Amino acid sequence: EIYRKATELLNKMTLQEKIGQLNLFTSDWDVTGPTMRKGYKEDIKAGKVGAIFNAYTANYTRELQRLAVEETRLGIPLLFGYDVIHGHRTIFPISLGEAASWDLAAMESSAKVAATEAAAEGIHWTFAPMVDIARDPRWGRVSEGAGEDTYLGVQIAKARVKGFQGDDLSAENTVLACAKHFAAYGMAQAGRDYHTVDMSERVLREVYLPPFKACVDAGVATFMSSFNELDGMPASGNAYLFKEILRDEWGFNGFVVTDYTSINEMIPHGVATNEYEAGALAMNAGIDMDMQGAVYANHLEQLVKDEKVTLQQIDNAVMNILLMKYRLGLFDDPYKYCNEEREKAVIMSDEHLAIARDVARKSIVLLKNEGQTLPLKTENIKIGLIGPLADARRDLIGSWSAAGDWKKSVTLKEGLEKQLGQNGQLLYAKGCEINDQEQKGFTEALAVAQKSDVVVLVLGEAWDMSGEAASRSDITLPGVQTDLLQALQQTGKPLIVVLMNGRPLALEKEVSLANAMLETWFLGTTAGDAIADVIFGKYNPSGKLPITFPRSVGQVPTFYNMKNTGRPMDPNNKYTSKYLDIPNTPLFPFGFGLSYSSFEYTGLEVSTSQLPFNGKLEVSVSVKNTGTVSGEEVVQLYIRDLVASVTRPVKELKGFQKILLTPGESRTVSFELTSDDLAFYTKDMTFTAEPGKFKVMVGTNSEELQETEFELTGKSVH
Ligand code: IFM
Repeated sequence: EIYRKATELLNKMTLQEKIGQLNLFTSDWDVTGPTMRKGYKEDIKAGKVGAIFNAYTANYTRELQRLAVEETRLGIPLLFGYDVIHGHRTIFPISLGEAASWDLAAMESSAKVAATEAAAEGIHWTFAPMVDIARDPRWGRVSEGAGEDTYLGVQIAKARVKGFQGDDLSAENTVLACAKHFAAYGMAQAGRDYHTVDMSERVLREVYLPPFKACVDAGVATFMSSFNELDGMPASGNAYLFKEILRDEWGFNGFVVTDYTSINEMIPHGVATNEYEAGALAMNAGIDMDMQGAVYANHLEQLVKDEKVTLQQIDNAVMNILLMKYRLGLFDDPYKYCNEEREKAVIMSDEHLAIARDVARKSIVLLKNEGQTLPLKTENIKIGLIGPLADARRDLIGSWSAAGDWKKSVTLKEGLEKQLGQNGQLLYAKGCEINDQEQKGFTEALAVAQKSDVVVLVLGEAWDMSGEAASRSDITLPGVQTDLLQALQQTGKPLIVVLMNGRPLALEKEVSLANAMLETWFLGTTAGDAIADVIFGKYNPSGKLPITFPRSVGQVPTFYNMKNTGRPMDPNNKYTSKYLDIPNTPLFPFGFGLSYSSFEYTGLEVSTSQLPFNGKLEVSVSVKNTGTVSGEEVVQLYIRDLVASVTRPVKELKGFQKILLTPGESRTVSFELTSDDLAFYTKDMTFTAEPGKFKVMVGTNSEELQETEFELTGKSVH
């Protein structure tokens, strides 16, 4: 039915009106890229715009929608897009932080809250989830994704799409999702944003594409092209990616938007002389909508006349966009998402804040806890709260914090004060700024430490040191923060370091000096409450790192599922794969995270040592809470294909379960494996498993694992 309606409408449209639908322009509210086009309201009235981004609130979107609906010949409603990445008004942890929860239901509910708030403010479409696998902590955008692992990335991609889109795009509390950035943006050379990407087809398909495919399978409405080139062709001109893989292989039927001015950027990339040529490349690659570049607006008509692009191509692109507008219900009521009443009721509601606090607590990773320094008691305790981020507010909501109001975020100082009440005392000194080169504030900080029973030192990066265009060549703590830590350690007071940052940091020295350490990322609006919950043991930390923390930037890229090499590391043999100055092992491996409980793994078993191609294998292990408090554990399962037609990683995550155990409780955790779980791109690029021996490993992180073996027998049906 909507297809019939969209076709009827298409038949009434002039070429100019069709081209109008293919343009997405920013409003002047938040500008998220390098250019600003003046006169977007005039453009709307002239029918030159199909979608607007960076405009929100019921009031403002209604005003703009009215221009499109009432002042253009056909009255086609606008689509409003926005970067609702980790919350809209109620801000959740940055995406990498949320990924550390390994809690898919939590991530789905976070996306759902974001969609509910955004949709009440007139937004139809979020530029999320970002599903780029990222293994280089220098790249600032590691903060926006789900980390280094493909399997985990696939599960999180599905949960986020489901959270944003629900199961009915016309519902008032859902938004269109956008799988971005297609493709391989996360492998920018040397971690420098927008830099060249070059990788084998095998790595592309095996590591970088699966989360995107998972989005298609989950019904994602839109895709965004990435800024980078891949095999010599910028994504926005890359027909292999958008036509062959996305449409033909995967059957995607939504629409594709570029990233900001990325059609124009094909000129400096060096594959087009001018915008006219760049526009032809993009349309021929299957790009439906031009974000902000105005290349389609300015050149498509001529390109059609010159037969560089066909009318059919334009009609296809227009249909892809119109169909989404129909699915959203905009033709029935173009103002249905601009609703002040709903806006008032849902924005930062108590319910949303409670969900945000829950997700924030789950995202915290306990990295060290010597002698059970944590949790602290609240009675009769004097806490010395020190550090540039101890009372920081703006930083807490991180980058891409959409319409979040940082003034409403709860600082750690406030969170601790609330929970301490009259029972204890909180003394505070800043010590230094994030980027200070001088130690001026140290004296005051040391005086506070001397008077305290315990020091909570809050260190890290500023919010804008990660995110887009925020690469760093040095991933240690900026300024004199480590010196402050060292000075405080000399006081002999128990020292708890709370980290706030958007990427893995190299923290070898800091870890050795601290008694306890919590990775809290940027946790969003309720950060201070959530961290206080963990510090005082109201919540037992359960997060696990979704990305490896290296010892130093010299190890980058380092990730758990590397290959073995022909000369695996041997400390007694010079001619093996290693560094002279540091071990190969990371500071904290993928999947690492402690708890106030301890967990014992015993009795790893496989149901059969011979798994036929069409059979099933059960892997089970007993996990016991050997601590004194209830705690959650993420039980992780990895495999290794020992010999194959091409080299395979030393470990591949293939399953995980987050379980809650009371003290003394043990549970048998089981996973099912079939040959599908063992498939990979073989020598001839067939996606299948190969018979032979496999290791199966289960444990608390990617390094501390029990292991056993089984054999895959018979022949692949592929
Ligand atoms: O969605 C973003 C993208 O991730 C980076 N460039 C700008 C877009 C729109 O704001």
